[in-house]
Amino acid sequence: MINYKIDNDGIAIISINDDMAPVNALGQKMGKKLGETFRLVAENEDVIGIIVTSAKKDFIVGADVKEAASNREAFTKLAVELKKDLRYMETCGKPVVAAINGTALGGGYEVCLACHHRIALNHPKIQIGLPEVTLGLLPGAGGTQRLPRMIGVEKALEPILQGKRLNPEAALKVGMVDELAESPEALISKAKQWIKEKGDPIQPWDKDKFRLPGGNIDSPKVAMHITGAAGNILKMTYGNYPAPKAILNAIYEGLQLRFDRASEVEDRYFKQCVLSDVGRNMMRSLFINMKKAENGAARPKVIPVKKVTKVGILGAGMMGAGIAYVSAMAGIEVILKDISLESAEKGKSYSEELLKKRISKGRINEAKAKEILSLIKPTSSAKDVKDCDLVIEAVFEDRNLKAKVTQESEAVTSDTSIFASNTSTLPITGLAEASARPHNFIGMHFFSPVDKMPLVELIKGEQTSDEAVALSLDYIRQIRKIPIVVNDSRGFYTSRVFTTYILEGLACLQEGISPALIENAGKMVGMPVGPLAVADEVSIELIYKINKQTELDLGTTGDPTMAVAKKFVEELGRLGKKEGKGFYEYPQGGKKHLWSGLSEHYPLSRKQLTAKEVGKRLLHRQALEAVKCLEENVVTSPADADIGSILGWGVPPYTGGLISYIDTIGLKTFVSECEELASKYGDRFLPTPKLKEMATNGESFYQEEAIISHAR
Ligand code: NAI
Repeated sequence: MINYKIDNDGIAIISINDDMAPVNALGQKMGKKLGETFRLVAENEDVIGIIVTSAKKDFIVGADVKEAASNREAFTKLAVELKKDLRYMETCGKPVVAAINGTALGGGYEVCLACHHRIALNHPKIQIGLPEVTLGLLPGAGGTQRLPRMIGVEKALEPILQGKRLNPEAALKVGMVDELAESPEALISKAKQWIKEKGDPIQPWDKDKFRLPGGNIDSPKVAMHITGAAGNILKMTYGNYPAPKAILNAIYEGLQLRFDRASEVEDRYFKQCVLSDVGRNMMRSLFINMKKAENGAARPKVIPVKKVTKVGILGAGMMGAGIAYVSAMAGIEVILKDISLESAEKGKSYSEELLKKRISKGRINEAKAKEILSLIKPTSSAKDVKDCDLVIEAVFEDRNLKAKVTQESEAVTSDTSIFASNTSTLPITGLAEASARPHNFIGMHFFSPVDKMPLVELIKGEQTSDEAVALSLDYIRQIRKIPIVVNDSRGFYTSRVFTTYILEGLACLQEGISPALIENAGKMVGMPVGPLAVADEVSIELIYKINKQTELDLGTTGDPTMAVAKKFVEELGRLGKKEGKGFYEYPQGGKKHLWSGLSEHYPLSRKQLTAKEVGKRLLHRQALEAVKCLEENVVTSPADADIGSILGWGVPPYTGGLISYIDTIGLKTFVSECEELASKYGDRFLPTPKLKEMATNGESFYQEEAIISHAR
């Protein structure tokens, strides 16, 4: 797992290589082995200096989160042990250089921080940083203490608080590495040279008269940065995320102390974060469950993996153009079809724009961009999709038009070619009626903008085959998106649950709750935008149309809050953001603001609710709908429901997703809170009988995790 060799000059090269895993990740075994090897090498009298590097493509990608999440108590102990070893390494009296040959994140970069010198291989794909905060944690192996001591508090705050991953050039600029090397050979020879020529084995913070770069922690300048950061954190997180605050506290308290005492301060805050509900939720949903989904957990195993080499895209509008871009980026040939060659070419020019931006940011060179762009072939002929393994339609949301393009495509494609619809609302089984090969027909719901949104919701119609699911998942993996596989339902999983967020906002408006309060309450519980602003973004007209169609199809009276949408569309002609007016005004060149006419149509009630109560309504309503989707087998696992809610429409990660949100509150409490909400605001809050039964039995959705958290 970890080897070392000593050269003729007495320089030891420790080489990390977890042969049981594709990448080096720090878990119990590796932590222990690393410590043992350091000691063995440092105590060898022939050794004059040590180089730490890796035999893999990456250096160390970070902690083994899977292991950490399965036993969080043990994870806190691992950090303490690792810290002792790192402290030993930096005080052993021999110079240690980190030869960063690949990605060094989290604990991996903390190993580098404990070295006396850091040289990174200059490759744009290498990532360096401390992303712990993005999983609800803080760097617990000395990162909060060494980085500020190395580059100053002001410079260290951003990488730690935002968890940014930097490429080697950017890392050099902030001082997170000291030198770059242009080849693996140069990396090692530079490391050796540093040991021989400089080789200072004492960290700056262990020297007499050490001064914190950029000013002492209690200097007015640094204090100002800390206060500014604290204010920003509060503004951005509304106190929902404990980690950023813990990081700031660890830095502020720790930097007033000597290193070893400071390290204990960090231990305390690290433990707090790891054992918090938020830490558990974020590790589980943002890492473990997402990785599982990414690796194709839902893929029918017996079907051989296939590589999609040519994809047909029907409709080169907003979605089609985006799907064409992500496909070409993955090296897939794209036939991009629209009603005229001009429209198809316009769709292709979208990719050209995005590629230009990448060139200007230095992320891609011109030759590569040209190669990618040449993969997209615009056309107006439906026949051109004939050799495609997969055809995705993204034409207007019109059932008849979708039927027409399905048949045109199937007339020329092979019997094994899969046809996917990117419909956002129309049930897949119904659309598949137009298909001569309904087993090859599937829903593939992308989110806008396609290049940025990581989720794809795959929808199985009644007749969709395992082969269709497998090929679609293979394609989604190729384009590096995260899939969830759901069963057919009106609005599928994501749109169905997301709509309840908007509907609850409209219900509050109807009751005379202040619109500003409704919007703030949404943001305070962590939703990216308030429900009224979201309604404007989606388009009030579209919401109204979809609801009307649902009423027609199902013969129901629909949701009572639709009266609001009806008024806005039919009476007031305020259709949403695209038309420049909805619940908000969008003055040209100015900032959007709530429409002042709202109070005329929905006079403020004398008794206003608290933001907390409104926030609870907004989240509980969505969570309850997610439970219904689980019970109806629309979404098939709590993990998918959680991932879908976070990546699909921005349910805040601290909750771990809507199902984790219920688990965190506890089913008993959630059920009784829902019953209380139902008595105040209506039956839509009534918990399902099954949920009540689970609560009575003391169950939770994530069984194993509950055991761990009860055990502490
Ligand atoms: P859009 O209006 O931007 O593009 C539709 C394109 O289809 C137009 O360029 C149109 O010329 C083309 N088209 C019409 N008839 C055609 C035919 N016979 N053959 C080829 N192309 C034809 O629409 P957008 O927003 O891209 O939506 C497309 C589909 O994706 C819709 O079903 C929509 O519900 C769905 N969707 C939209 C999302 C969004 O955020 N806009 C999100 C997820 C799904």
